[in-house]
Amino acid sequence: MDLKQTLTRAATTPAVVRLRHLTFKGSGRYWEDRYAAGGTSGPGSYGASAQWKAEVVNSWVRELGVTSVIDLGCGDGNQLSLADYPRYLGVDRSATAIRQCIERFKSDPTKSFLRFEPTELADPAGWLRADMALSMEVIFHLVEDEVFEDYMRRLFASAERYVVICSNDAPGSERVPHERHRSFTAWIARECPQWQLQRKVDPPAETGLMSSLYLYASA
Ligand SMILES: C[S@@+](CC[C@H](N)C(=O)[O-])C[C@H]1O[C@@H](n2cnc3c(N)ncnc32)[C@H](O)[C@@H]1O
Repeated sequence: MDLKQTLTRAATTPAVVRLRHLTFKGSGRYWEDRYAAGGTSGPGSYGASAQWKAEVVNSWVRELGVTSVIDLGCGDGNQLSLADYPRYLGVDRSATAIRQCIERFKSDPTKSFLRFEPTELADPAGWLRADMALSMEVIFHLVEDEVFEDYMRRLFASAERYVVICSNDAPGSERVPHERHRSFTAWIARECPQWQLQRKVDPPAETGLMSSLYLYASA
């Protein structure tokens, strides 16, 4: 066994997994600390995975004549750099990620950004809405039940015609504390029955992605 295999095996022993869960400080804190330490949105937002996601979503935006996009959990902006949207609002819980996006896209007049904290934003009057709402590999990072519920309700409340979700859809056993896999399609069918699944596209095998792309439309 080489060093990399030894380290990988050590990192997944039950004691290490338990320790990671014990020291986990919550999903909001996790992402802010990760970006502040120089981390990124993750491998799914780079390379072939990002390319595939951008191709599919850009083609839906074009085909459906989408006029504006709101992205809940926009991340560090790398995935966004491949996007082709007419008008865009990126929202994230991490202040560091939002500052990076503001700097990166400062000469692009079609892109706005906003940092939000779930307990510090109420929008029943519907100011933060767009033709299409996006959730790109965020849902399985919503570890806490109340954060998941809040996020899902905001996502559908912020869409006028379409919701696009990139995620996996099956409950699973988590080895890292910043992931919690759920069946979000079951949640939507139960809580937002007026939204219908129109399309699902699975990733090409070479991306190694576990997330598919889902397009919902309001009935
Ligand atoms: C795996 S990254 C994906 C980023 C981006 N969507 C992409 O595809 O590159 C997950 C992002 O979700 C953000 N996030 C986590 N919980 C959130 C919440 N409750 N509301 C909004 N964003 C959240 C994190 O800060 C992080 O930027």
